[in-house]
Amino acid sequence: MVLETIARIIKIQLPAYLKRLPLPESITGFAKLTVSEWLRLLPLLGVLALLGYLMIRPFLPKKRLQKDSLINLKIQKENPKVVNEIDIEDLKSTNACYCRCWRSKTFPVCDKSHIKHNELTGDNVGPLILKKKVL
Ligand code: FES
Repeated sequence: MVLETIARIIKIQLPAYLKRLPLPESITGFAKLTVSEWLRLLPLLGVLALLGYLMIRPFLPKKRLQKDSLINLKIQKENPKVVNEIDIEDLKSTNACYCRCWRSKTFPVCDKSHIKHNELTGDNVGPLILKKKVL
């Protein structure tokens, strides 16, 4: 039933529609078309424009999503630049881990959020580990 309908549209109705279209035989003939003739051509021109666009679309440059270029998604967004300063002399333990993935809830200290981020995205970020020599 569905295939019969499709076959009838393609074999009978579409050719009849195309025969009735006021297609001029030359380029200059388009200038002589009346408004009503242009309106009858509009569906065909729309379909041809859509098919043309779909054919060239794979070759068009792709826009990068803005979200892809953002590193910091939530930390101190009210500041134009997030800067943290830590005096090495103030390090209390022999190891200190600082976040480089910008996902830590204790930023700038690493809370291991990078592990989940790496699992979700396939990324490979990790913390900056400062080691203090014990003399
Ligand atoms: Fe960001 Fe560990 S939480 S590097």
